[in-house]
Amino acid sequence: MFQLTRSVTWQSLQRLREETANDRIRDYFTADPDRFDKMSLRVGGLFLDYSKHQVSDEVLDKLLELAEHSALVQRRAQMFSGDIINVTEDRPVLHTALRDMSDGPVYVDGKDVMPEIQQTREQIRRFSEEVRSGEWKGYSGERIKDVVNIGIGGSDLGPNMACRALLKYRHPELRFHFVSNVDGTHIQKVLQNLDPAKTLFIVSTKTFSTQETLLNAKTARRWFLDHAGEDADIGAHFVAASTNRKAAMEFGIREENVFEFWAWVGGRYSMWSSIGLPIALSIGFDGFIELLEGAYEMDRHFLEAPDRENMPVLMALIGIWYINFQGAETHAIVPYDQALHQLPAFLQQLDMESNGKSVDIFSQPVDYKTGPIVWGQTGSNGQHAFFQLLHQGTRYVPIDFIASLKPEPGFEDHHFALLTNMLAQANAFMEGSQKGSQLDPYSCPGNRPSSTLLLDELTPKNLGALIALYEHKVFVQGVIWNINSFDQWGVQLGKRIAGEISERIDERTQDFDASTQGLLGLVRQHFGK
Ligand code: F6P
Repeated sequence: MFQLTRSVTWQSLQRLREETANDRIRDYFTADPDRFDKMSLRVGGLFLDYSKHQVSDEVLDKLLELAEHSALVQRRAQMFSGDIINVTEDRPVLHTALRDMSDGPVYVDGKDVMPEIQQTREQIRRFSEEVRSGEWKGYSGERIKDVVNIGIGGSDLGPNMACRALLKYRHPELRFHFVSNVDGTHIQKVLQNLDPAKTLFIVSTKTFSTQETLLNAKTARRWFLDHAGEDADIGAHFVAASTNRKAAMEFGIREENVFEFWAWVGGRYSMWSSIGLPIALSIGFDGFIELLEGAYEMDRHFLEAPDRENMPVLMALIGIWYINFQGAETHAIVPYDQALHQLPAFLQQLDMESNGKSVDIFSQPVDYKTGPIVWGQTGSNGQHAFFQLLHQGTRYVPIDFIASLKPEPGFEDHHFALLTNMLAQANAFMEGSQKGSQLDPYSCPGNRPSSTLLLDELTPKNLGALIALYEHKVFVQGVIWNINSFDQWGVQLGKRIAGEISERIDERTQDFDASTQGLLGLVRQHFGK
């Protein structure tokens, strides 16, 4: 059987790692004045500079060979055409169909899914227009002022991140809130400032069985009934985005207010589905369609561009170089844009839930590293927090800098300072301040790699393209590592055991380990069990 680490290309890359270990990134620029032009590319409104990496021409060639010898071409075609590539869950992976703007069919089990997708889009359009125009009324005849999304993981992070990123496009009279944590203080804090007569809850849950979400939804319903309407009024204040229509209706949601999606949409890839309802409510249906169009543009690029000019492929390969050959354990996401402050959290789930795997698609243990620890926060705040370690610490952390070029009118000076700080950091990480070979407390070693992603402007379209870019980057890495990027059995295990513990809280069970039992005993005392 094919073994990745035994392949000629992998071994050449290992050799190149030794040979280029002492290379300085800045020397690559001296040797090749065209390096920036050669190692940068544009897709629509996105520009990627990947020249500040410890990647020589030869390394890049070998990385491209790694992609060429992988199952990328085949697996990518399978994903877009609805083949079952999520093998452990026996499902296709078709978030790309949700943003497919062509008139062509996409088949699942011989059935074209595009008409259903169009139908749900139409339902989202009608509903978002009604709420935004005030035509949709609460039980007492008032228009909606506050929208509360109740969901967790993929049913929270995508719409939450996008609504914040696109805040400047928000309907001026609507406010948005996101409740995810099962910790009651989260929902309590949100509800305390709301008027139930003017509040709309979206229960966002693919399965309609996630404990955290159901508990928060029940608390919201109780609060609504305690402070305002009666059972029959629930329908005017609660809607659902879910694949489980039946459970949503049992909760009290009217059938026409269940916004459906499908098992072949993974939770962390679901913001393009009806899970994106808060986005459509916030920025309007046309804006939501622009978001989908941006993602679709990136999908086309990913499908059509040769690997050497393919943004997601290049980002994936450079990531692999650091993870598998340079020993990098983590990857930092640093948006120099306050509106993108939720992006690191979103990408953390996207990458770590997808590629946090240690067996391949044949259930065999892998003998190489897979997905990195993804973390980060906005610059310039990060500069005054964790950047010190990145400059002078002992860890090797590749960074993605992300910014939009267009300033906010009236804040040009702020935006200029923001961008110059970002460029200064990327430069400082590469150049360092070390004059000779001697390191002293004042000197920064430099040679620390980064990519810079510039959006012409933070529009719905460019945001859609940016998110699709990262989705495909994660996909390419998963294909090269030969893992299933679309299941999450570790998360499922946690869910199952949480259920078992809560079911047996009353029993003096010996089923758990001594530590869990000891701790459970302390919990019991506080619950009078
Ligand atoms: O975090 C694990 C997960 O299964 C995610 O993939 C999903 O987005 C989240 O739980 C929430 O699940 P649901 O949308 O079914 O409530």
